Amino acid sequence: MTRSAAHFVTETSLQAVAGQRVRRDLWDAEAEAAMGHIELARWADAVVVAPATAHVIARLAAGLADDLLTTVCLATTAPLFLAPAMNRQMWEHRTVQRNLASLKDAGAVILGPGEGDQACGETGPGRMLEPAEIVAVLAGHLAQGPKPMDGLNVLLTAGPTREPIDPVRYISNHSSGKQGFALARAARDAGANVTLVSGPVGIETPAGIRRIDVTTAREMYAAVEAELPETDIFIGVAAVADYRPEEMQDQKIKKPGDSSDMWIGLRENPDILARAAEVCSCAIGFAAETHDTLRHARDKLARKGCAAIVLNDVSDEDIGFDSDRNAVTFIEPSGETVFPIDSKETVAEKLIDAIALLFRRRNNTTRGDLTRQA
Ligand code: C5P
Repeated sequence: MTRSAAHFVTETSLQAVAGQRVRRDLWDAEAEAAMGHIELARWADAVVVAPATAHVIARLAAGLADDLLTTVCLATTAPLFLAPAMNRQMWEHRTVQRNLASLKDAGAVILGPGEGDQACGETGPGRMLEPAEIVAVLAGHLAQGPKPMDGLNVLLTAGPTREPIDPVRYISNHSSGKQGFALARAARDAGANVTLVSGPVGIETPAGIRRIDVTTAREMYAAVEAELPETDIFIGVAAVADYRPEEMQDQKIKKPGDSSDMWIGLRENPDILARAAEVCSCAIGFAAETHDTLRHARDKLARKGCAAIVLNDVSDEDIGFDSDRNAVTFIEPSGETVFPIDSKETVAEKLIDAIALLFRRRNNTTRGDLTRQA
């Protein structure tokens, strides 16, 4: 129990329903070697914080260890599960979301929250999941068994590329890298060894992921080419600039004095996805389309020779580029699966499951037999 928990419920009542001693004190003289936190951290198979308030989430994200709970969370090697519970505005606050993202990067699993009536009278996201749901999700996580991408080498591209015009200007696009990074995390959580080739984005490298930073399409191509021989699955999420200025000027281009028009010659960039599809039997592309979406995506699937295309309808401003939400259609030669609008994290998890299934079908492997073929 934290100090705040004791405001809501007494130690005696918790002890009575749990039939276990309640621990509150970092300095418990009765604990083994008077170090209750180490003893508890070693003893636990899983650590579950339920309810996890905005305050405890912030303390954990900052790595504070100022009471028994936060100290145990830092000292344990057991998986950490957080079941947030707070007012809807607090849940949606950027600081809370940032703290959760950094805890997820460090390996914590966030359970929920649910939506509905709140203690404060409002309605929305932020309700703690029902205890039975928490137990069910936990059981799934702790179940021993192979993960869908165990041992596979997954190579992803993410973010935009920048094609320099002169030392101060470039051609680029609105890609934020969020969907690519979410997919990299989901592949990592599915057991894959993940390498992420990223264009310029403002996102921290998720824990356990190898990141290679590049700027231009040609740099991205070279980085991918070098990794392809060791790659089982390639996922091209990056919004690669199709063209680059013919040549980069060494000095800043000056405005013509006579206010005449100016022309920049463009050259086509190499197609990274098409190259990956030549080498890797499971290359997945993304197609951001605004009209005639399915037809264009199907064309792309055939033209680039990839195993599947993820179609992203970017005509809707609420999803896709720079948004936290997305809705996609997973297109294989044999048919389509629609993943409706959801957070980029959830869409990523569903896509990774679909891609793992596709890989297994193509390689005739079953779950549990996913070790890399030499
Ligand atoms: O042809 P288009 O650019 O729409 O195709 C998008 C897909 O192709 C994405 O998966 C993107 O990462 C990939 N692509 C690539 N290299 C390029 C252009 C696009 O890998 N030069």
